[in-house]
Amino acid sequence: MPPERLRSHRCGAWQRCRESVIRQATMQLLLAPMEGLLDFVLRDVLTRVGGVDRCVSEFIRVSGTLLPERVFLRYMPELENGSRTLSGVPVRAQLLGSDPVSMAENAARLAGLGPEGIDLNFGCPARTVNRHGGGASMLQDPESIARLVAAVRRAVPAHLPVSAKMRLGFHDTGLMRECAQAMTENGVQELVVHARTKSDGYRPPAYWELIPQIRAAIAPQVRLIANGEIWTVHDALRCREQSGCIDLMLGRGSVADPGLALALRAAVAQGIPASGVVPRDLPPAVPWAELLPHMQRFWNVVCSRLTPNQRAGRLKQWLNLLRRRYPQAEVAYQELRTLTDQALITQWLQRSMERVASNAYSSRD
Ligand SMILES: Cc1cc2nc3c(=O)[nH]c(=O)nc-3n(C[C@H](O)[C@H](O)[C@H](O)COP(=O)(O)O)c2cc1C
Repeated sequence: MPPERLRSHRCGAWQRCRESVIRQATMQLLLAPMEGLLDFVLRDVLTRVGGVDRCVSEFIRVSGTLLPERVFLRYMPELENGSRTLSGVPVRAQLLGSDPVSMAENAARLAGLGPEGIDLNFGCPARTVNRHGGGASMLQDPESIARLVAAVRRAVPAHLPVSAKMRLGFHDTGLMRECAQAMTENGVQELVVHARTKSDGYRPPAYWELIPQIRAAIAPQVRLIANGEIWTVHDALRCREQSGCIDLMLGRGSVADPGLALALRAAVAQGIPASGVVPRDLPPAVPWAELLPHMQRFWNVVCSRLTPNQRAGRLKQWLNLLRRRYPQAEVAYQELRTLTDQALITQWLQRSMERVASNAYSSRD
């Protein structure tokens, strides 16, 4: 968005945006870490579709032991490709834990594998994680956050970026500023805010409008990224307006609509200034026929890299989200719902590809 367009806007959020634009110039779009959903297979597909600047791995749990290198590589095989997906998009590794010593030791080992950066998880709501003091439960104690971040920062080379991802709080938002300060004053250079508390879970809405309070509490040079409940271009623009953030992290919205980042970039490049200007229900940027080859690739990689009992579930999990945006995915989901046999699913995909190819051929006649 050119700064001169922004100058015409009067409201406070846009003023903050304008300052941010001048500082950062371009919008960064990140792909969210999503354990059990957005692993290296789907990262590969979504970054091939395009529009994404960087990914974050699913959380790698640190609980007192020094993890062997193979554990880091299992979560993030991209480490063997210069910390990039096959289409060249950087991937940052995420660590989750509560013990500063153990986190620092593991961060140092991870740093030796050449990640693009290290991200720290202060948002996971899982009971098993929170019971051990990790993830979102740390948001109840900013001092423990400060100790952990400082220990990790000291343990890794100065050139390696350290970032963090937080929720607005555990039960409430009372400590969100202190938590963000504890992170950024101890070495976090970039902070993603998932605009919900742990108690909010994943229930809409996301409270984007609270993010400016975090912006005001931390140093201006820290890059602040808004996340949560961005399903459409309209949502993304609304999130930017309300949060004052230029940069966004896309989660389930990007899995449901793999072209979301591209569509948002196109809207911003056209100078569309605000959510009010775009329809709420734009069709997906990537048509179903173009998505199918990606799905076939996804299935091939799932079949070659995951265990047999994980395979069908992974495809159905993706289709389940895709059906929010694609009517064809609803049909596909119903057809595949009861199938578990790999060969039958492969045949189904093959038939779908042939059907789409013959439709394209006949529509050219
Ligand atoms: C299945 C699932 C797994 C997740 N795993 C992680 C994770 O490993 N690390 C993390 O920081 N956040 C994790 N999250 C939170 C997402 O990164 C993101 O903050 C959240 O989904 C809100 O964004 P969205 O509404 O765009 O999906 C997970 C979310 C989901 C739904």
